[in-house]
Amino acid sequence: MKIVKVKDYQEMSEWASKQVIDKIKASDQFVLGLATGSTPEGLYQNLIDAYKEQEVSFKNVITFNLDEYIGLGADNPNSYRYFMDEKLFNHIDIDPKHAHLPNGVATDIEQECKDYEALIKETGEIDLQILGLGVNGHIGFNEPGTSFSSRTQMTDLVEATIEANSRFFDHKEDVPTQAITMGIKSIMESNEIILLASGENKAEAVKQLVEGEVTEDFPASVLQKHPQVTIVIDEAAASLLK
Ligand code: GLP
Repeated sequence: MKIVKVKDYQEMSEWASKQVIDKIKASDQFVLGLATGSTPEGLYQNLIDAYKEQEVSFKNVITFNLDEYIGLGADNPNSYRYFMDEKLFNHIDIDPKHAHLPNGVATDIEQECKDYEALIKETGEIDLQILGLGVNGHIGFNEPGTSFSSRTQMTDLVEATIEANSRFFDHKEDVPTQAITMGIKSIMESNEIILLASGENKAEAVKQLVEGEVTEDFPASVLQKHPQVTIVIDEAAASLLK
């Protein structure tokens, strides 16, 4: 596990966007795993800026997002599809057919999970997966207790996650209680992983991720077993590390 300590959110976003841009430029076809939440927003803005400055093109990039709320469609501003369109896809030259998210309003959610997993397999491996970190150690929407051998599946969100994500909704009751998420095993099959964490409220989770035991009770700890993972943390998120 490589740890990159940076000063603040801006440096974290710059570090990550440089990696992503360099890797896209160095390959003919690049499969990029993406995350939502506040953490990767700066990274996405940097990618948009680089595209506008003609520094990078996304024509040969295929993306797979980690997760989506069940019950929220593309036209719902709280859906992850809407977030990704707004924060990245609408502003770059990616082929919309290549920008994948699970469909949270599929009529058969179980089938949707299977199809999403199969689509990743068909495309080949994810070259680089970007991850955020839930305060309770979740990655994607894999909550504490999720099996390390899990594949894309439907999951119940725990209270801590609903509480943390309620800041995006008008009322806490509006936060969906279920989601589709790539599984831990699906994530671990990515060739490379970059996890981003910024701010004091992530310090405890970062400490457990880096220094704690590997346990399904803290899903992100599984990353200790991945051969090529980089944790990019700012000073505040790193503040509790030994
Ligand atoms: C959500 C997402 C995760 C994300 C996490 C942290 O629950 N499903 O993929 O990493 O929140 O979000 P934030 O970056 O806003 O702290």
